[in-house]
Amino acid sequence: MAENLIVAASTEKAERYETLLPQIESLIAGEPDLIANLSNIAAALKQTFNFFWVGFYLVKENNSKQELVLGPFQGPIACTRIGFGKGVCGAAWKNEKTIVVPNVDEFPGHIACSSDSKSEIVLPAFKNGKVFLVLDVDSDKLNDFDDADAQFLGKMMNLIEASA
Ligand code: SME
Repeated sequence: MAENLIVAASTEKAERYETLLPQIESLIAGEPDLIANLSNIAAALKQTFNFFWVGFYLVKENNSKQELVLGPFQGPIACTRIGFGKGVCGAAWKNEKTIVVPNVDEFPGHIACSSDSKSEIVLPAFKNGKVFLVLDVDSDKLNDFDDADAQFLGKMMNLIEASA
C-alpha cells in the first residue's frame, strides 16, 4: 500500500481525479475491512481537494428500521443519523441516484449540519442491488460540483462496491 498520496499539481479537477483514482484503487486493494477503506478514502479526498466536509453514511438497522448512520469522514462534526428520504443523503438513498445540489438553501428538506455548507453532491453505492452507503461531499462555496465530480466520484463508488 502506498504510504504517501500524490496530489496533482494542476488545479484542474479532472487531472486531480485522474491522479487520485488509481491511488485509491491500490489503497484499498486486498484490504477487506470496509471502515478502514472508507476512512482512507475520506482522507485521500480531503487531502486532494480540501473539501469542507467529505464522508460516508452507512445504511444500518435500528429498531427494525433502516437509517443512515455517520461513518468515516473528514471535516467538522456532523449529524449522526439521517432517515430514509430525508435531506440530500436520504434522497440519494431513496432515489438510488447521485444528487448534485448547487445551492443547499434551495433543496427542500436539506439537513444543515453546518451553516457554512453551501453546495453538495451525494452518491449512493450498491451491494446486492441495494444502497448500502452514500458518499456526501459538502462545499462552503455555491455551485462547487458538476458532472465531472459526479462522473469521477461515481467511478470511485464502483471501486468501493467492488471491494465491499
Ligand atoms: N447536508 C446533508 C446532511 C449531512 S451533512 O451535511 C454532513 C443532507 O442534507 O443530507
